[in-house]
Amino acid sequence: MIIEPIIKGVVARSAHPYGCEAAVKQQIEFVKQAAAIKNGPKRVLILGASSGFGLASRIALAFGGSQADTIGVSFERGPSEKGVGTAGWYNNIFFKKEAEKEGRIAINIVGDAFAKQTRAQVVEAIETYFEGEVDLVIYSLATGIRPDHKTGEKWVSSIKPIGDSVTGASVLLEDDSWHESTVEAASDAEIESTLKVMGGSDWESWIDDLINSESLAEGCKTVAFSYIGSEITAPIYRDGTLGWAKVDLHQASHSLNLKMSNFNGSAHASVCKALVTKASVFIPTLTPYLIALYKVMKENGTHEGCIEQMQRLFTTKLYNHALDGDVQHDIPVDAERLIRIDDWELDGATQAQVKAIVDNMTADNFKQIGDYQGLKKEFMQINGFDFDNVDYNQDISIDELQALVD
Ligand code: NAI
Repeated sequence: MIIEPIIKGVVARSAHPYGCEAAVKQQIEFVKQAAAIKNGPKRVLILGASSGFGLASRIALAFGGSQADTIGVSFERGPSEKGVGTAGWYNNIFFKKEAEKEGRIAINIVGDAFAKQTRAQVVEAIETYFEGEVDLVIYSLATGIRPDHKTGEKWVSSIKPIGDSVTGASVLLEDDSWHESTVEAASDAEIESTLKVMGGSDWESWIDDLINSESLAEGCKTVAFSYIGSEITAPIYRDGTLGWAKVDLHQASHSLNLKMSNFNGSAHASVCKALVTKASVFIPTLTPYLIALYKVMKENGTHEGCIEQMQRLFTTKLYNHALDGDVQHDIPVDAERLIRIDDWELDGATQAQVKAIVDNMTADNFKQIGDYQGLKKEFMQINGFDFDNVDYNQDISIDELQALVD
């Protein structure tokens, strides 16, 4: 079979395995030539390890100087009669292959991170492969649904504004078409559910479980990813359900920090830059901003992808910063104790340039005045398509894909 890209709306329904391999290798190459992570963690647990920031952090820590062994948890689908499976499935496999070539331990646990049995599997893997302890826990889950184990029901997130409705445009990646729409304000129940799914409570419960199983090493850190954004995206993000969920996550980082101090460790939320990932393309009315942001930051030489962001997080914030001779510095944070790697995005001149573009963007000119091509290419590449060095005409069988197990 020839594997072709299939996109429905903003969701990729196919992935190219060898394109995913190329994507993983490209990120590995980047971190190998970047400034190295010094004094980094050796045993790392990544929740949400198969794509976006989680995968990038795993690659940065394994290949970017720290030489970390990793356990990665993700929710992905393998090949079957129904299809080739998801990009994250192949990212896991090819990451592991590359890591093992360099002598690293790389354990993939594919399962629901909210389920008790996945947690038990993780603790067992920490016992088996990490001598019982981890030095860093990265929380990078992005999902729309979280089961409530007490009631058996599910919380479902709603990406909506709060208070007033928001009108804006989104681009359907399926056919590159521009759609104006109005997103109605969230109800109280929708706000509450989104907080449960994307706020800090699951992160806290993971750390509590890891404390109870005595799986955190002395000095262990934990970090989760957040977004704040500017005035331009505030109605749909900062002042909306997701923004409120992120405030909940920030609060969780403070309470977790107190718990982690018992191990001489720390907990932080790291505020990242807006990027194209499997998760972010779901946010309604965000595409015009992303297209304009890509254009401006590329022109200004400040554009970063997930991998550049993660390498910068570990070298300038979480680890190397403490290596100034013998002087130990605290992790650099803002007044709310948040790590900021969204600084280049929020730079005043950058935002002014982005606003000027967004204000003039229409259905007729978005491909010309913004970097839609760049955004689309990145979306295709996270699903394994659009790489020059991959033969997309090769005949691939499901049997061949099923043999690619880790
Ligand atoms: P992503 O969709 O690329 O990755 C999400 C990961 O979570 C995948 O590995 C997926 O398999 C895993 N996952 C989802 N549900 C799961 C479940 N039930 N059990 C186990 N694993 C599960 O997402 P992305 O964009 O990397 O997001 C990660 C975090 O970064 C999120 O908290 C997001 O809000 C945050 N962030 C994202 C930004 C962006 O522009 N993409 C900007 C700033 C923060």
